[in-house]
Amino acid sequence: MIFIAGASGFVGSHLLDFLNEKGMALRCLARAGKAREKLLRKGAEVVAGDITRPETLKGVLNSDDIVIHLAGIIEEKSGATFQAVHVEGTRSLIAEAQRAGIRHFFYQSALGADKNSWSGYLRTKAEAEEIVKQGGIPFTIFRPSLIIGPWDGFTRKLVDMIRLSPVIPIPGEGNALFQPLYIKDWLWCMEKVLESPGSFASTYELGGPEHLKYREIVRKLADALGTDKPLVTIPMGLMKLSVGLFSKFMLRLPVTADQLRLLQQDNICDIDSVSRHFGFTPVKLQDAYQEFISS
Ligand SMILES: NC(=O)c1ccc[n+]([C@@H]2O[C@H](COP(=O)([O-])OP(=O)(O)OC[C@H]3O[C@@H](n4cnc5c(N)ncnc54)[C@H](OP(=O)(O)O)[C@@H]3O)[C@@H](O)[C@H]2O)c1
Repeated sequence: MIFIAGASGFVGSHLLDFLNEKGMALRCLARAGKAREKLLRKGAEVVAGDITRPETLKGVLNSDDIVIHLAGIIEEKSGATFQAVHVEGTRSLIAEAQRAGIRHFFYQSALGADKNSWSGYLRTKAEAEEIVKQGGIPFTIFRPSLIIGPWDGFTRKLVDMIRLSPVIPIPGEGNALFQPLYIKDWLWCMEKVLESPGSFASTYELGGPEHLKYREIVRKLADALGTDKPLVTIPMGLMKLSVGLFSKFMLRLPVTADQLRLLQQDNICDIDSVSRHFGFTPVKLQDAYQEFISS
């Protein structure tokens, strides 16, 4: 049986549909409320649990399970910290996996995960990876770049901004490089792992077939939306000031100061990262946008 933590999120929902179509036996972890309802509507078996509350994980796994751990946060809010979710949450899930003696543990980390990173997100992803590696269970770790598709949080926010704003603001110069990967390509990588977990017992950086500047990604998205609104660079200092000012008045901009800083930092891997390990060439960003936005 495949057990998914984080099945109600963007990546998890696509994975659930993909595996459902293949008729695979699935069990999903969900916190109470909306996530649970969403998964039940998709016909999944749901067990209640929260990875930050180890007592809720007792007995959720069985010895023949493959665990796919996608649960994570991109922003600290409502009391959920990177440390609690990524580090302690992963520790608790690994502890339950050890108790049950599961077959294989998949962990979704992130490209750029680094124990010495200034970014709490990337630092705790690296710490979680270490917990998985030390867990004594056969594992696979993915470190994906931005995963895009209907409807990841990054693209959704950009689309709202492009539609609402008379010009398209680009924080800083927008020259940092990214390597977006289409969700369908991520799914095909995941499928290979599930077909033969033992052949993928390692850590894999995953990215699309292009290194693109942030401003190029935004331009391609605007083109897919059929708008020729101009890109306007906003000095990073001004953007950070706005985030600070807004938060002082208890208002939230769609980005945090840390996310702005991440937009200034290259986040890429080898251009052939997917073809080398998974044997196919992922689609270009423009083609992905064409498929899920323009068509
Ligand atoms: N999307 C990307 O571009 C990207 C790139 C690299 C890595 N990743 C990683 O891939 C994973 C999935 O990303 P995503 O875009 O699908 O994120 P997402 O849409 O925000 O989904 C996150 C999932 O984690 C669950 N979750 C969060 N805290 C939890 C907790 N304490 N206990 C149990 N479940 C919890 C959420 O459940 P609720 O529905 O209950 O909130 C949701 O199902 C994350 O680990 C993310 O860091 C994503």
